[in-house]
Amino acid sequence: MSSQPEHPTLLIPGPIEFDDDVLQSMSHYSESHVGPGFVATFGDTISMLRKLFQTTDPSAQPFVISGSGTLGWDIVAANLVEAGEDVLVLSTGYFGDGFADCFEAYGAKVTKLTPDAVGGRPQLPQIEEALKAKKYKMVTVTHVDTSTGVLSELKNLSELVKRVSPETLLVVDGVCSVACEEIQFDAWKLDGVVTASQKAIGCPAGLSISMFSGKAIEAYKARKTPPATYFASFKNWMPIMQNYEAKKPSYFATPSPQLIHALHTALTQILAKPLSERFSTHREASDRIKKAVADLGLKQVASKPEDQAHGMTAIYLPESVKATDLLPKLAKAGVVWAGGIHKEIAPKYVRFGHMGVSVTDPARKDIEKALNALSNGLTECGYKA
Ligand SMILES: Cc1ncc(COP(=O)(O)O)c(C=O)c1O
Repeated sequence: MSSQPEHPTLLIPGPIEFDDDVLQSMSHYSESHVGPGFVATFGDTISMLRKLFQTTDPSAQPFVISGSGTLGWDIVAANLVEAGEDVLVLSTGYFGDGFADCFEAYGAKVTKLTPDAVGGRPQLPQIEEALKAKKYKMVTVTHVDTSTGVLSELKNLSELVKRVSPETLLVVDGVCSVACEEIQFDAWKLDGVVTASQKAIGCPAGLSISMFSGKAIEAYKARKTPPATYFASFKNWMPIMQNYEAKKPSYFATPSPQLIHALHTALTQILAKPLSERFSTHREASDRIKKAVADLGLKQVASKPEDQAHGMTAIYLPESVKATDLLPKLAKAGVVWAGGIHKEIAPKYVRFGHMGVSVTDPARKDIEKALNALSNGLTECGYKA
């Protein structure tokens, strides 16, 4: 149970509710970012990320850099692709489109594959055709697009890319999936996964967290032109990450010791239990939520069950109910949900985030509270299931 001051329960798809111990870690006294105490904490944090991403390959490189999830896109676009190179972006919503825009900002040539309709995802035969038509430096996929709640498959996609275009790098936007959806970095032969602290990892916003394969690092080293970035450059950060992990002080740009302490606590909590248990806990809560939503006669934006994320649900509202009427009713019941952000359907749906402590600590009763608030809120809006 939480000892935090009473507050509305934050059930948007990130930031999420945070555990007391994680928040308290942020009030750590000030210490030097190159002193032995902090170096040990940061080094252990980096090592723990290897476990979270399920990699034991020593050539894989974790990064933890001050910034939000978007910085991960810049790291990928600036370091792993050169201006004029082709990138295949699989987009299932707003965030896939944003990743594509980021590549264009660095001069990459983007081909974007989108689903036939909002709520679907590009299909493997369509992706295979695209891969056969042109040589791509990289394929990117948004594991869970937070604008639609669409879950993309990684294992089958990776097998396809390795079969049709083995040199192509496969990079995953895992901002809304790392720590709530299964990701096996080594087994699925991923070349990059970028994420952020504030979603299922359960640490306040402010950290860009990523993992890159040895193959991705080799591609970076083989560049013909230098990356068009300074803060986000592998060249500047790689030795820093390697030194911290080896418990040696190192400096490029000042990290936030307090945020790293919070991440250390969050990762320690996550890794205290088998990851498989964490993923099934999220899956079970999601199944319960999706059933309750269906029982209310509501549809999800992600149309097929196999395409539905397990850490969030994007829910179409009945035609008679406006999000601007419903969300304040939920807020009155002490529950904060998010409105829609996909430009084609924004006013028609709402988003419910169910990641981290709200799911793993049933004593909080966050999920029950949200489902009751939804049912009562709809009734107050005049809707009958
Ligand atoms: C899938 C996905 N990618 C990228 C981002 C961008 O992350 P941030 O807002 O932390 O910059 C988000 C943010 O919600 C996201 O959900």
